[in-house]
Amino acid sequence: MTDEKSLFKTVTLGRTTVGNRVGVAPMTRISATSEGLATDQMVSYYTSFARGGFGLIITEGTYIDDKYSQTYFDQPGIVYDEQVEAWKKVVDSVHQAGAKIFMQLQHSGSLSQGNRFRQETLGPSAIQPIGEQLTMYLGEGSFSTPREATKEEVTGVVASFVHAAKHAQLAGFDGIEIHGANGYLLDGFLTDYTNQRTDEYGGSTENRVRLSVEVSKAIREAVGNDFTVGIRISQAKVNDSSHKWAGKETGAEIIFGELGRAGLDYIHVSEYEAWKPAFGTSGASLASLAKKHGKVSVIANGHLEDPKKANEMIENGVADVVTIGKGALANEDWVHKVKSGEPLAAFKPEEVLRPNAKIKEFEV
Ligand SMILES: Cc1cc2nc3c(=O)[nH]c(=O)nc-3n(C[C@H](O)[C@H](O)[C@H](O)COP(=O)(O)O)c2cc1C
Repeated sequence: MTDEKSLFKTVTLGRTTVGNRVGVAPMTRISATSEGLATDQMVSYYTSFARGGFGLIITEGTYIDDKYSQTYFDQPGIVYDEQVEAWKKVVDSVHQAGAKIFMQLQHSGSLSQGNRFRQETLGPSAIQPIGEQLTMYLGEGSFSTPREATKEEVTGVVASFVHAAKHAQLAGFDGIEIHGANGYLLDGFLTDYTNQRTDEYGGSTENRVRLSVEVSKAIREAVGNDFTVGIRISQAKVNDSSHKWAGKETGAEIIFGELGRAGLDYIHVSEYEAWKPAFGTSGASLASLAKKHGKVSVIANGHLEDPKKANEMIENGVADVVTIGKGALANEDWVHKVKSGEPLAAFKPEEVLRPNAKIKEFEV
């Protein structure tokens, strides 16, 4: 036995009691049908983590409407009844294997690179995203310049998130996670250089976080108090991995303070290395700033596959749960291995994410 005991204590997130503090981070695998239906392969894939001892699984980002939210071809959706039915199989199987499961709800914003409903993209402002499309998700070349969302469309986005959250509830999920990270729509609004709006959604930090707050409040109102609702936040983006909030700690105080008052049960913070100072070379980590200013449960993510580091985040009171991404892809039985002191396998991107991120035979 190792000494990582705190990781394996039960925890309650909102109304969800989780058997341990270790979750699978949301990971896009573009393995749904072209109509966005979860497949039997996805049932096996998600269930393998539950069998491997993870207490909580957060699904890949799932699109929320039949307009601008789809981000990648073969991404699953939660828009239509058939999509709800397909996800039920994943949920039931994961539950039978003893884990809890939240669905991550995603609106692509300007980073869409494969949407079967629309050719053009929608963003806070008509600013072309920097960087290149992700080849592991079947993209190529630069991103398109999005059209600036009208006020009516912004209201429509809130309604789409609500509709999707209710569908996730119908499918039997234990909760939902709003994707407010990585440069997609909500993070696009939050980010100074992608949001040049002059209305109440642009300018100050309070204005830039407003859409995330409105989505959070509207979902809470729609799903009631018995369904767990969280949000994921990051500084980095898939197309800008070194981005830092210009407002630093003051900005973090506003962002986490506003979100903490929006009816959320948890804030999931993703950084490259979760324990490192959020800004510069000293000071608090982003997870601890979320805890301090958000005053709700915190999930921490970012290179926490080393059980000692993961355990420290819990023992220091910085996080209530940790999530593991690539380390879970390499060890779907990470929890069982750590409990029994077995060595962990190293993540091999060339085997799992090449030629693209689709689920591989050996993973199911
Ligand atoms: C293949 C892959 C797909 C990902 N897809 C998502 C996603 O759909 N939503 C999300 O919020 N983060 C996504 N991420 C980011 C992970 O959730 C996580 O933040 C990142 O891998 C860092 O954690 P790690 O160091 O434990 O791997 C993805 C990461 C990988 C490797």
